[in-house]
Amino acid sequence: MTWTRKDLVGIEELNREEIEFVLDTAKSFKKVLERPNKKLPSLRGKTVVHLFLEPSTRTLISFETAAMRLSADIINVSGSTSSVTKGESLRDTAENIQALKGDVIVLRHSSSGAAHYLARIMRIPVLNGGDGSHEHPTQALLDAFTLRENFGDDLSKLNITIVGDILFSRVARSNIWLLTKLGAKVTLCGPNTLVPKGLEKMGVRVSHNLQEAIKDADAVMLLRIQHERMNASYFPSLGEYRASFGLTRDRVNWLKDKAIIMHPGPINRGVELDSEVADSSRSVILNQVTNGIAVRMAGLYLCSAAAAQMD
Ligand code: CP
Repeated sequence: MTWTRKDLVGIEELNREEIEFVLDTAKSFKKVLERPNKKLPSLRGKTVVHLFLEPSTRTLISFETAAMRLSADIINVSGSTSSVTKGESLRDTAENIQALKGDVIVLRHSSSGAAHYLARIMRIPVLNGGDGSHEHPTQALLDAFTLRENFGDDLSKLNITIVGDILFSRVARSNIWLLTKLGAKVTLCGPNTLVPKGLEKMGVRVSHNLQEAIKDADAVMLLRIQHERMNASYFPSLGEYRASFGLTRDRVNWLKDKAIIMHPGPINRGVELDSEVADSSRSVILNQVTNGIAVRMAGLYLCSAAAAQMD
């Protein structure tokens, strides 16, 4: 297929063929990353601007590394050091980046819909590094890449359980779109208050019982409680959350022998999972992080190529 999108802002609008094309492209880039010379000339002379108006460790470093491996120049703009603190709007900030000859914007923003909004008004590619509780497309793609590494390219026979704060999680939303489009069976598990009503319409199963939700899973994705997005209390205490939904050392025995444990990070050890579980041989959490580089190289490369075709 030919990739024709200048932007990568959500999984919702992608079809199965497009998702698999990004994953296949990322597989080629991962091979490059395993060579002694890890650099390609694809984006030489281009400038990638990371406009990160919310904190990030993994996504920012991963996008930076991906852009450097493609030989791009990079500029990082953070909320606290930019003129956003003086009241400049997102639109004006982005239009100035375009006027300053930025070739790609990677945006992280606390408002749901911010990346789609910028993509509509910018001539240059916009990639979504996470917008509010809406989507985190490259996280879902790197999760799928990691699932393929463990179970083969066809994800349609897999049972995937996502546990935790579904309500505020952009990672959950992007993964629900992606995994259901690829035919996997998805189960969501968490307190009543953190699993929005009506999600079954997206083709997923909902359970509020951890043992029942994970016993048939091939992979369990644990999510952090996103206190920064909550303006009320959604469960009595972190201790009580852990008592019902934490993947403790003992509860790992509820899993199938070959089941893997995933987490987008940052992890809260002792809340959604125990330290022993995060560091166990079943955990692929750091493989997910490594795979983010290849997936983001694919996103930067494909969107830049599509934008060049439109000029
Ligand atoms: N997974 C993820 O988005 O992590 P960061 O917030 O550190 O980028």
